[in-house]
Amino acid sequence: MSHSLRIPDLSIPTRPESAAGQPTGVGPGDAGDPAVNAVDVIRVEGGARLAGTVHVVGAKNSALKLMAAALLAPGQSMITNVPRITDIAIMGEVLRRLGCDVRFDTDDPVDPMVAGGGVARSRSVVIDVPEEPGVEADYDLVRRLRASICVLGPLLARRGHVRVAHPGGDAIGSRGLDMHIAGLTRMGAEISGEHGFVIAAAPAGLHGAEIMLDFPSVGATENLVMAAVLARGETVIDNAAREPEIVDICSMLIRMGARISGEGTSTLHIEGVPALTPVRHATVGDRIVAGTWAFGAAMTRGDVTVTGADPAFLEVALDKLVTGGALVETRPDAFRVRVDERPTAVDVVTLPYPGFATDLLPMAIGLAAVSDGASLITENIFDGRFMFANEMMRLGADIKTDGHHAVVRGRERLSGAPVRATDIRAGAGLIIAGLCADGVTEVSHVHHVDRGYPDFVADLRALGVEVERGRTTEEPALEI
Ligand code: EPU
Repeated sequence: MSHSLRIPDLSIPTRPESAAGQPTGVGPGDAGDPAVNAVDVIRVEGGARLAGTVHVVGAKNSALKLMAAALLAPGQSMITNVPRITDIAIMGEVLRRLGCDVRFDTDDPVDPMVAGGGVARSRSVVIDVPEEPGVEADYDLVRRLRASICVLGPLLARRGHVRVAHPGGDAIGSRGLDMHIAGLTRMGAEISGEHGFVIAAAPAGLHGAEIMLDFPSVGATENLVMAAVLARGETVIDNAAREPEIVDICSMLIRMGARISGEGTSTLHIEGVPALTPVRHATVGDRIVAGTWAFGAAMTRGDVTVTGADPAFLEVALDKLVTGGALVETRPDAFRVRVDERPTAVDVVTLPYPGFATDLLPMAIGLAAVSDGASLITENIFDGRFMFANEMMRLGADIKTDGHHAVVRGRERLSGAPVRATDIRAGAGLIIAGLCADGVTEVSHVHHVDRGYPDFVADLRALGVEVERGRTTEEPALEI
């Protein structure tokens, strides 16, 4: 165990908006932050209209798991179109601690930012996996990146035993692991919990099993697929998650030699193979970042073209925007959202894919807050997603929550105020809501936004917004 290891600064040093010499991407309260009371803030002036083109790179929630999937084959894998965000840097560190050599390289210059002389939003990552990767992922990294739990399945399959720190809950709610554990147990693993770790062992190797998930959990589906590809015999996962990121992971695994069918449906069949080989794979475009800009266009009565993500993966979300009055044009790898009038209120219910994505809930609330009429917003995935509603209320939004429902009565205009980002998506939603407010909105703790959006400020500028990023000091702790 290595609890006493000092956490390296995993900030992304070339982000141009950070104050000189100050690390970004790691927030106060996170271990390793040298300036404990300093927080990154983004300031926007209200009354802006998003207009122009924005390019979206690979999906965070795919790339993180593609990196974990590389653990399944000794040798050198390469993943391209990987977003330049803090979470990916942390995953790189998780893999290094497992004995992998991890190198980030400049990606193909598909990103228009590069052509314009800016900082690339995507990179490729080359991962050299040893014959025997390590078997422990510590809390100091797992608590900063819950997705680290996705090394559980691959390491158990490769090494037959593993200890991964339990990630615990976070600002969007409790994050259970029972389905991961029940599925792996059916595949022959013995799993226990001790001192905050999930400890799994399968001394005789994993075997195929019939697994019915209680809920189409993204993380459980991924862990079980990555364990099943090297298990003896056939695994069938019913009620599996169908997200495009799951399809992306399956397609990389299939190219590594895995035998998987049914990806993108609720039933996955996986025939275990003795070994896999490393490959090069390009990450699917980020539908949540793309959806963020789609809602941003609607909220600000703007005109935004988004390239790099398949609009088919946002069908329900774009359909909501059309119902609210937006004009939406789609092409295979791009779409345009234009809104000329104040949007009309629409109801939204979040559901597993292909339903409305929970990660776009803050944007749906933001849109409802400035729409004409009342919207009923229902969250079915995370019990804490509405926590950020209090911050939206500071901007004057009229929101009443009751359990997993919120009634939002639209206002012509919000009112600029200092607010705090509580998670990745809430942060992005608050910044965009600030564009619809009178005066200045300052969103603090935007290191959360850096976890999921490669260069939010540069994208806002490219879309015509006056925005600045800086550092501010929180109230010093009182001596008692
Ligand atoms: N759940 C359990 N037990 C389990 C697994 C899940 O109770 O064994 C519960 C969770 O507590 C949660 C719900 O089921 O309430 C959904 O969890 P799921 O496993 O589907 O989500 P996840 O894998 O933890 C991923 C994304 C999230 C995204 C959700 C839903 C990554 C790294 N994270 O989380 O993305 O919201 O799927 O689509 O892939 C984000 O990017 O900001 C983010 C939170």
